[in-house]
Amino acid sequence: MKKAKLIMDRDFSIGKVDPRLYGSFIEHLGRAVYGGIYEPGHPKADEEGFRQDVIDLVRRLQVPVVRYPGGNFVSGFNWEDSIGPKEQRPKRLDLAWFTTETNEVGLHEFASWARKANTQIMYAVNLGTRGVDAARSVVEYANHPSGSYLSDLRQRNGQKDPFGIKLWCLGNEMDGPWQIGHKTAVEYGRLANEAAKAMKWVDPTIELVASGSSAYTMKTFGSWEMEMLDECYENVDYVSLHRYYGNPSNNTPDFLARSMDLDSFIRGVVAICDAVGSKKHAKKKLNLSFDEWNVWYHSNEQDKEIWKQDKWNRALPLLEDVYNFEDALLIGSMLITFLKNADRVKIACMAQLVNVIAPIMTRNGGAAWAQTIYWPLMHASVYGRGTALRPIVESPVYDCTDYEAVPYVDAAATMDEEGNVTIFAVNRDLGEDALLSVDLRAFGEMKVEEHIVLHHDDVKAVNTEEKPEEVAPVTGEKGQMDGGKLEIVLPALSWNVIRLSAK
Ligand code: AHR
Repeated sequence: MKKAKLIMDRDFSIGKVDPRLYGSFIEHLGRAVYGGIYEPGHPKADEEGFRQDVIDLVRRLQVPVVRYPGGNFVSGFNWEDSIGPKEQRPKRLDLAWFTTETNEVGLHEFASWARKANTQIMYAVNLGTRGVDAARSVVEYANHPSGSYLSDLRQRNGQKDPFGIKLWCLGNEMDGPWQIGHKTAVEYGRLANEAAKAMKWVDPTIELVASGSSAYTMKTFGSWEMEMLDECYENVDYVSLHRYYGNPSNNTPDFLARSMDLDSFIRGVVAICDAVGSKKHAKKKLNLSFDEWNVWYHSNEQDKEIWKQDKWNRALPLLEDVYNFEDALLIGSMLITFLKNADRVKIACMAQLVNVIAPIMTRNGGAAWAQTIYWPLMHASVYGRGTALRPIVESPVYDCTDYEAVPYVDAAATMDEEGNVTIFAVNRDLGEDALLSVDLRAFGEMKVEEHIVLHHDDVKAVNTEEKPEEVAPVTGEKGQMDGGKLEIVLPALSWNVIRLSAK
């Protein structure tokens, strides 16, 4: 058995975990909205057409914030299409996903769903085909109390109180040539700055996210952030990062090491934010909003076929990745990486929430179930709050095609106000268990409340409507506690949640 060591101290912290680290994303894309959260006539649909079985699964995730309505979709979206009487809302061609958008679900409906799902909205404005005017108008419509044309229109549309949306994205992936209204860094930076000023003049309490690179691999990465932040640093609060991983070459050791790339990406963006801030002699530090992250590759070929046959239909079954067990392990490592960077990563949105590259799947007219990746997200969201501790992990390492010295065991830890500690740990070893020894003497007397393990003998195992719990967490051994030292076994290829309570 391999041996690994975890060293931590209650006074040695990274920082407060912002609950928004466990956010999510719903785009008008595929069956995320239509057939996902909304399916009138479904046996589990409520009076507004929202599926209660999906709401129940979302509530179990304790999702603090949901980014909406896109994504690529937002760069061609007119927010005005999504308000007022449903029967008068226009059907539009969505050039991002070659679909017809019916606007049956719009701002008011989504806000109602968000209340039911116990979450907040992070609203993206269109800086692709639209600009400053549409951006400041939707803030006025959503957040101004009353007495202006747009706030009164909101009230006439049935919403007396402001929606009170606090978090806003300034466009989406504007560095990407696939984006409707793609821009250079300077063009985008100037537009984002002007939109930000006007939006904050309407509501000074809002927070704004500038669009960073759509991936670490973009040729413009780095220069995009520097040039656009040079234009808008003073008026924005966060910079976005997006990153998706895949395993098309079926190389599990490499795939499981991708969180190292994620860590470099985060550190790179932090360095650039601070460099621009320093150049500007700014007092303010920008934080990071990792507002799209996940595994995405399983559905790529299927989507090409769908578009060949069905272009422009409503709610095409796009981006329906069926996640396997190794995907869940990488998701666990990505969450560990966010926790290790909790001082600067304040928002993270798993992309997405339902059906579209999502932890929750549904069948139209049928069941809703949790995919493999649902579990690590749920564990981190439920137990990973409070303070992120700064752990030192000593682990044997391996080399693979793209990385050297990948630790077999990776771990993060959080502590709540009562002094209870949760350790999140992944064992990336394909064949060997690891004995993790944790020195807990700095925490006083502790007791292992629970050890949750996610493991499957087959890395390609998936959850389906027929077998929704093929990959599901089980209770693991509590290990041996001896004089403030815990020794606990992390099974080969496993995600572990070790919950310790202060006695
Ligand atoms: O989440 C799917 C898509 O990925 C989003 O629409 C876009 O922002 C990203 O490229």
